Amino acid sequence: MPTILITGASGGVGQALARHLEADGYDLVLAGRDASRLHAAYGDRHLLIEGDCTTPAGASDIIGKSALAGRRLDGLAHCVGNIRLGALHRMKEEDFSDCLQANLISAFHTLAAFVAHLRADSRPGAAVMVSSAAARIGTPNHEAVAAAKAGVEGLGRAAAATYAANGIRVNVVAPGIMETPATTGILGSQVARDAAARQYPLPGIGSADELAGLMAWLLSPAAARVTGQVWSLDGGFSSIRPLVK
Ligand SMILES: NC(=O)c1ccc[n+]([C@@H]2O[C@H](COP(=O)([O-])OP(=O)(O)OC[C@H]3O[C@@H](n4cnc5c(N)ncnc54)[C@H](OP(=O)(O)O)[C@@H]3O)[C@@H](O)[C@H]2O)c1
Repeated sequence: MPTILITGASGGVGQALARHLEADGYDLVLAGRDASRLHAAYGDRHLLIEGDCTTPAGASDIIGKSALAGRRLDGLAHCVGNIRLGALHRMKEEDFSDCLQANLISAFHTLAAFVAHLRADSRPGAAVMVSSAAARIGTPNHEAVAAAKAGVEGLGRAAAATYAANGIRVNVVAPGIMETPATTGILGSQVARDAAARQYPLPGIGSADELAGLMAWLLSPAAARVTGQVWSLDGGFSSIRPLVK
């Protein structure tokens, strides 16, 4: 079975995707900044790599360690990111930098290291990165994360064009709000959950499992002719209005 690297593997989306791919029989390489969190999530299943993919050296190091352990990667799922909310005029410079670092800069360096790994052996492969519905539709207080995720979408389309001839596919998924550790603050109470859900045309709140299913499909041979796309999975949030009763 193909080998897939998941970055941000101790996060909510990373763990949901690992469960999907594990059930499908993939070989997994799981990376995060804290080895103890990775071990708590996965025990001694899979190859676990502690590293920080927000720098070129950090991203190459993760892929280098995986190669040293004998893994040739076929797929990348970049699940690193954060959600920094706040109006433009209140956003601190360090929060904006952290948002760009976690969401866009990490994606750029990780994708670059993955593509270099594939090109070294002239192999095809597939990558999927995570954007947000807020990159497509103006959403109050999302300026920082919307700017970072719009960058991820542009990165994905451009890299898909550059490496299509090498058989390297790059796609992006753009979820609405999902229940993960990143949103425990935002969805902490029933009142907050109901208020969040009311913004979505389809009822309820999204789940990381649903997103993982889409990401797993994009990484699979079933999506062999799919590249350069942004896949919204947001209950209609970015394209249709809720019916007001
Ligand atoms: N949850 C939502 O509602 C939602 C909505 C739209 C988009 N997204 C996107 O979905 C992706 C996965 O998020 P999630 O919901 O699974 O959140 P999560 O549970 O907080 O996981 C995010 C992961 O990103 C890593 N990370 C965060 N900041 C980092 C930084 N500065 N440098 C390096 N790594 C960092 C963390 O890795 P460590 O374990 O190494 O700390 C963590 O495992 C993110 O790109 C997020 O923006 C989420």
